[in-house]
Amino acid sequence: MIPRTFKDRVIAPSLLAADFSRVREETTRAIHSGADWMHLDVMDGHFVDNISFGPAMVQAVHETNDIFLDVHLMISRPDHYLPRFIAAGSDLITVHVEADHDVAETLRRIREGGCQAGLALNPATPIEKALPFLDQIDLLLCMTVVPGFGGQAFMSEMLPKIEAAAKLREERGLSYHIEVDGGIDAKTAAPCAAAGANVFVAGSSTFKAPDMAKAISAIRGV
Ligand code: DX5
Ligand code: ZN
Repeated sequence: MIPRTFKDRVIAPSLLAADFSRVREETTRAIHSGADWMHLDVMDGHFVDNISFGPAMVQAVHETNDIFLDVHLMISRPDHYLPRFIAAGSDLITVHVEADHDVAETLRRIREGGCQAGLALNPATPIEKALPFLDQIDLLLCMTVVPGFGGQAFMSEMLPKIEAAAKLREERGLSYHIEVDGGIDAKTAAPCAAAGANVFVAGSSTFKAPDMAKAISAIRGV
């Protein structure tokens, strides 16, 4: 299901930018518009300055369809809530290296629970913080905005970090996806792809576009 060649771009619309009163229709709209994954932003009002939704929403989306669910936990204690997100039907769970947990142990438990494991770095966090965990992950998320809100401007100063992530992957013979999240549209996806990213999270530029299918194709670069 997941391409390991990294040639094809994976487009993951973020549900955060959807109409929450119509989650089923919005998810279906994303799928019909060509979405590969659905990105679900979980915020606890503590790790980030916003509260979004929890495992019940993940389960609701899971029960609606079978699109791959990319769950991004922006929460202080991912280790504590992990079992609930696994049970809710997540396919991939990403935790932040900056959160308050034993990162290696949480990543191990994600895989043990049958999910793929992702590790996220805030813009201020250097790639070095991810080094001890690279052989334990299926995806490395390089945030391209300070997490918490959709609709923020892309930080181009993150491009060297993406390049470093791709270089490390090659040097170590690893196969993690490199995901970018924040301010991604057709214009900002291009330099990210050139730097080595292959998974593109996009909220505002997809759900709020006049033509979502067109917006997704444009991010795909076609
Ligand atoms: C930011 C979230 C993002 C957000 C992206 O805290 O992690 O996934 O939804 O939204 P846009 O694409 O609007 O920047
Ligand atoms: Zn996200």
